[in-house]
Amino acid sequence: MIVVRTRGELGRSLTDARHGDASLGLVPTMGHLHEGHLSLVDTARQGNDRVAVSIFVNPLQFGPSEDLDSYPRNEERDLEALEARGADLVFVPTVEEIYPRGGSGVTVSPGPLEDRLCGAFRPGHFRGVLTVVAKLFGLFRPSAAVFGRKDFQQAVLIKHMVDDLDMGVRVVTAPIVREPDGLALSSRNAYLSADERGQAAGLHSGLMAAAKSYADGERNAMDLLAEARRVLDLHPLVEPQYLEAVDPLTLDPVERAASGTVIAVAAFCGRTRLIDNLELP
Ligand code: PAJ
Repeated sequence: MIVVRTRGELGRSLTDARHGDASLGLVPTMGHLHEGHLSLVDTARQGNDRVAVSIFVNPLQFGPSEDLDSYPRNEERDLEALEARGADLVFVPTVEEIYPRGGSGVTVSPGPLEDRLCGAFRPGHFRGVLTVVAKLFGLFRPSAAVFGRKDFQQAVLIKHMVDDLDMGVRVVTAPIVREPDGLALSSRNAYLSADERGQAAGLHSGLMAAAKSYADGERNAMDLLAEARRVLDLHPLVEPQYLEAVDPLTLDPVERAASGTVIAVAAFCGRTRLIDNLELP
């Protein structure tokens, strides 16, 4: 596995990696890797000859009161895990390497879906995400890029960006990897106290309660959400920020749930913001 830190090194390694027209799958991450991230490496491996991973905590996607400085980092362990998982190339740039002299201020506008769901509570977040993902696509020129469905709105916006700007990258999404009690794996789970961790799976339990109602025949979105809310409320340390049933493409709230409708939730567990979602079967 090759580890590179500069654009120059990356360019040279990519020329070698692409030797003979090999296809390249990219997995962008912010590090502190867990099984959710590593499952994306497996997915990228399936459709591509080479797998590249980026580890970059992107300042542009953090709000002024968010956790940029405390975001968990562990490069040594990340590189060991990626090597064991069979990644071919890892890019670990500095902020200056990605945004030389801060850049000239050109960013990618996410369009009208920017203010939905998480975007309503994290102004500028998705502009930051799309900008760095567009830059990574420019630097790597991958055939495909893999994203987790845990960050559902992020994956939708990246697909829209690739389509609208004709970026020619195949966007692949991968299922949410969870702890045995249902909590979606997240780098931010490291912030949870023991008590908070005990209740954090409430997000998933709430979603599962809605899925059960749906399986029992309920189609009214308000009633499904009320059922999810009832179960969420059994976890007093979990404070929901939003809970919505939306169309998977437009992110518009739906009145009647159907196959493919996504129920998405964000909640604070103490000071840690967690997200989760579930696609109705
Ligand atoms: P990060 O939070 O590190 O996540 C990197 C990728 O891992 C994302 O595609 C995310 O959806 C996926 N992921 C995280 N937890 C997962 C889980 N439990 N199961 C499956 N996939 C999971 O998302 C970002 O970084 C950044 O916004 C980034 C796209 C790298 C741009 O900076």
